[in-house]
Amino acid sequence: MKLTDKKTMKTAKYFFMAALAGLLPCKAAWGEEKISSPDGNLQLTFDVVDGRPVYQLDIKNHPVVKPSLLGLELTDGKHLMDGFTQVQADTCSFDETWSPVWGEESSIRNHYKELAVTLEQKSTDRHMVLRFRLYNDGVGFRYEFPQQKNLVYFVIKEEKTQFAMAGDHLAWWIPGDYDTQEYTYTTSRLSEIRSKMPAVIEAHKDNSSWETFSDTGVQTSLQMKSDDGLYINIHEAALVDYSCMHLNLDDTNLTFTTWLTPDAQGHKGYLQAPCHTPWRTVQVCDDARKVLASRLILNLNEPCKIEDTSWIKPVKYVGVWWEMIAGRSTWSYTNDLPSVKLGLTDYAKCKPNGTHAANNDTVRRYIDFAARHGFDQVLVEGWNEGWEDWFGCSKDYVFDFQTPYPDFDLPELNRYAQSKGVRLMMHHETSSSTRNYERHLSDAYKLMNKYGYVSVKSGYVGDILPRGEHHYGQWQVNHYQLCVEEAAKHKIMVNGHEAVRPTGLCRTWPNLIGNESAKGTEYEAFGGNDPDHTTILPFTRLQGGPMDYTPGILETQIYKWCKNNSSYVRSTLVRQLALYVTMYSPLQMAADLPEHYEKYADAFQFIKDVAIDWEKSLYLEAEPGDYVTIARKAKGTGEWFIGNSSDENGHASVLKLDFLDPGKKYMATIYADGKKAHYEHNPADYTITTRTVTAKSVLKLKAAPGGGYAVRIVEK
Ligand code: NOJ
Ligand code: CA
Repeated sequence: MKLTDKKTMKTAKYFFMAALAGLLPCKAAWGEEKISSPDGNLQLTFDVVDGRPVYQLDIKNHPVVKPSLLGLELTDGKHLMDGFTQVQADTCSFDETWSPVWGEESSIRNHYKELAVTLEQKSTDRHMVLRFRLYNDGVGFRYEFPQQKNLVYFVIKEEKTQFAMAGDHLAWWIPGDYDTQEYTYTTSRLSEIRSKMPAVIEAHKDNSSWETFSDTGVQTSLQMKSDDGLYINIHEAALVDYSCMHLNLDDTNLTFTTWLTPDAQGHKGYLQAPCHTPWRTVQVCDDARKVLASRLILNLNEPCKIEDTSWIKPVKYVGVWWEMIAGRSTWSYTNDLPSVKLGLTDYAKCKPNGTHAANNDTVRRYIDFAARHGFDQVLVEGWNEGWEDWFGCSKDYVFDFQTPYPDFDLPELNRYAQSKGVRLMMHHETSSSTRNYERHLSDAYKLMNKYGYVSVKSGYVGDILPRGEHHYGQWQVNHYQLCVEEAAKHKIMVNGHEAVRPTGLCRTWPNLIGNESAKGTEYEAFGGNDPDHTTILPFTRLQGGPMDYTPGILETQIYKWCKNNSSYVRSTLVRQLALYVTMYSPLQMAADLPEHYEKYADAFQFIKDVAIDWEKSLYLEAEPGDYVTIARKAKGTGEWFIGNSSDENGHASVLKLDFLDPGKKYMATIYADGKKAHYEHNPADYTITTRTVTAKSVLKLKAAPGGGYAVRIVEK
C-alpha cells in the first residue's frame, strides 16, 4: 500500500470516529502512539489532536472506547485541556506475581504494557504525564503532575475524562450520588437511563441524600454489556487524596464524562504537584466470568505498605446487630434524651428502656454462642453512650467512642470473651460527625488496644459534618484513609460502612478488611433487596474490594419473629449459605440470631465450615443479573466450596468437577433448594445430601427462584 493511500485511510478512519464521537477537533490523521496488551487482543491508541489529548481502546480491532478526550479544568481558568504538544513517550512491559495477605487467590499476576506520554502546554510552560497500563482485561490510566514551577497548588473545577462508548449497551447502574451507593440496581440500555432516572430517585428518596447533578449521572463501578457480548466495566483504582468519580452520560453521543464529587465550595479537588489522579479503569472481557476473575483494580494499587502483616487475619463473626436492624431491640439505653454535649448526662440516673441489646447478659450469650461454634469475633453495636440522639440533628459532638453504657461492662466482657478464645469487635458509629471522630480517634484506638479489640466496624450514617462536605469528596476520602493508616499503627483492622466505595486500596492497606458501600443485607429488613441483587454486586460493587454484606439469614421471614416488621429476605435459605462463596470477603458475618442457627442447625453447619481465605477461585458460570457460580479452594485445608446465587428465575447448572485432583476421592455435602423452594413463599425448603465425587464427576444442581446452592467438598 502506498503511503498516500495509508494516509487517506487513516484520515477516513479519523473522520468516521470523530463523527461518531461528535466531539473531536480536526486533524488529518491520528494515532501517534499505540500499545497492545500482553496477549495482543487489546490496543490502546493515544495522540494529541489539535492540542488535545485523545485515547481509544480496541479489542481485536473493534472499538470499546472510541476516540475520547482527556483533560482537567482548573478553577483559576488555566485549564489543562488543550494547547498541548507531545514531548516524550516511553513504553515498557511489566510482569510480576504477588501474594495478597488475604484474597480470592494466593498469588496474583500483574502483567501489563505501559505507555507514559509527557505533554507540554507551551503557553503556560506546564507539563502533564498521561500514564496508561494495558492489561489483557482492560486499561488503567491516570494524570500525573510532575514537580514544576508553574503548576504547584491547583484546584480542580472538573475532570473532563471521556469514555465514548461504541454502542447503546445494556448497563447495571445506580444513580450518581455524592453520599451513598445504597441503591437498587437498574438494568437498562444507556439510552434509557434518562427516562428511568425519575422513578429510581422517587423510589429512594427516603434513604439517600440525593444530590442530583444530571438526569444521566451514574456511579462506578458501572457494568455494561454490548450487543456483541463484550462486558465493559468502568471504575477507578487507588482513590487517594482526590474526589470520588462519577460518570455523566451524554446520551446523544453515548459518551461518559467524569464528574467528581464537589466540596462545600463546589470545588472538585485540591492538588499540589508532584501528584497524580487515581487510575481510571476500563475493563473489557468477552466472557462474564472473566470480569469476576479480573484483578485489574487490585493490580493498579500500590503494594502493601504494612511491613508486619501477621496480625491481619480474616474474620468470621456474629454480632448483636440483626435484632436492632429488624427493630426488636435498640442501640439506645434509655428513652430519656440525655444531652451529652452539655455534660448533663448521667446515664446511671436515666431509666433504662428495657430494649437495649448491648447489655451484659445478651453479649455474654453471643460470646458463648460464638465460642461454641468456632467464630472469631462478636460485634456489639450500641455499647457506647450517645445513641439516644445520634444523627439527623445538629450533633458535632455526639459519641466519644470510649464511654460504655451502664449495662455494658467493657473490661469484663472483653476478659470473658478472650477467656473463651473470642474477641469483641468494636463499633464506631460516627454519625458522619467526622471532625468529632478525628478528635477522639487516637484515644478510641488506644482503648481498643488496651482491652484487646483487633477490629472495628465504623459507620457514617447521616450528612457529613462539617456541613456541605460529602461522603465521596476529597476531604472525606482523606478521612477514611487517615483512619485506616492510624488503625494500622495500632494493629487494628477496619470495616467501614457508608464510606466511599472501594478502589482496591486493600492491596496497599490489607487492614482494610471490609466496606459496605452498597445495599447490604440490612435492606432485607427495610423492604427487601431485589432477588437479583447478589448476582449484580460481584460485577459492580465487589470489583473494588470486599463487601461486609452480612449474609446468613436463615429465618428469612422476618415477620415471624419481629412484630411490626413485615419484610422478608428475597432469598431462599440455601442461597444465604451460597453467599459466603459468591460474595467474596475476608470478613464474613453470620448475621442471623443464635436461636435461628440453633433451629436450622444442619444448614448452619455450612456457615461454620466455609472458609474465608482462598488459595484459588474458579468462576464456573456468570451472567450479571441472572446467576453467579463460583468454586473456591480454601487456603491451608485444601477443601473446596461451591456457591451459586440465582435471580428470581432460578438456574440449572451442570458442573464438571475437573478442578479436583485426579485420582483422589472426595466427599461432597450438597445444600440444595428443595423442589418447592421459592424465595417468597417457601424459602426454608432445602435438602442436605452427601455423595462421593472425583475429578470425573458432574454435578447437576438446580437453584430455585431467588435460590442457589452451596457445596463443601472434602478429600476422603
Ligand atoms: C448502618 C450500618 O450499615 C449498619 O450495619 C449499622 O448497624 C448502623 N449503621 C448503625 O451504625
Ligand atoms: Ca435477571
